[in-house]
Amino acid sequence: MKPEKKYPAEVYLNGKWLKPDEAFISVFDRAFMFGDGIYEVTLFYKGKGFRLKEHLKRLQYSLDQIQIAFDAFSLENLMLEAIDRADLNNADAAVYIQVSRGAGPRSHFIPEKIKTTILLYAFPVALEGFENKTWEVMATEDKRWHRCDIKSTALLANVMANEEAIAAGFHENLLVRKGYFTEGSHSSLFFVKYGVVHTHPEGPEILSGITRAEVIKICTDLNIKVIEKAVHIDELVEVEEVFVTGTTTQIIPISSITHKDKTVYTTRKDSLTKKLQQVFIKRTRA
Ligand code: PDD
Repeated sequence: MKPEKKYPAEVYLNGKWLKPDEAFISVFDRAFMFGDGIYEVTLFYKGKGFRLKEHLKRLQYSLDQIQIAFDAFSLENLMLEAIDRADLNNADAAVYIQVSRGAGPRSHFIPEKIKTTILLYAFPVALEGFENKTWEVMATEDKRWHRCDIKSTALLANVMANEEAIAAGFHENLLVRKGYFTEGSHSSLFFVKYGVVHTHPEGPEILSGITRAEVIKICTDLNIKVIEKAVHIDELVEVEEVFVTGTTTQIIPISSITHKDKTVYTTRKDSLTKKLQQVFIKRTRA
């Protein structure tokens, strides 16, 4: 069930394009020692960037929140160059960006003078046919920190939650905080209840997903009501549809949710999710 991943042919590191086995950072880089860095994953549909400005704005927000002084928008041309250099103008691809605070002698005190480490590369993604997938998922306690709005490279809690799901034969792990669903380990989460779309409000408990915002916009355009309010696990009896969204996930319906070894939800409908998928495909591929 684990997707096969390959290294890219080259990466941009601090001003140079290098082969992965030539690209090195200091062992004192704070992203290595503290997870002190921010990242983004942005999508290019056949060479055309999707909501690039929104991604760069979110990157800037995260950098500002942890006080890394760096202009996220200065990376725009490099992202296009990455797609070009990897010859991905006619494919679906993504660009990974990582801005680390940089290297300094290990200390909880952030050095006054420090140079950011910039890593960026393009890689192909298999998106086609996402609309034919369904995911069986599990739900567990959200063990992440209280600033999930910051797209930090410190993803251990997300990785552990995902790994737990994969090891048990599921596709994703939906995270629950005090009985309320927040989001998936690597996706945003939506519920349909009495024809109304529900999703956790923005704030420190979730990542402000770019695909999430697009789905909310599509709902608004289609006159589908959206309530940005967390859904409690006990409300699942009233839920008709569940779906997750994300840059590399797109929009995927959830067929079942298992919580503490019990099936707590199975699909009742899929019509609204299907409609959103169709409009999303039209807009992203237009
Ligand atoms: N993950 N929530 C979490 C915790 C995520 O990691 C992601 C995406 C999302 C969806 O956000 P967006 O629609 O902006 O991709 C929500 C990326 C793709 C990753 O970490 O690789």
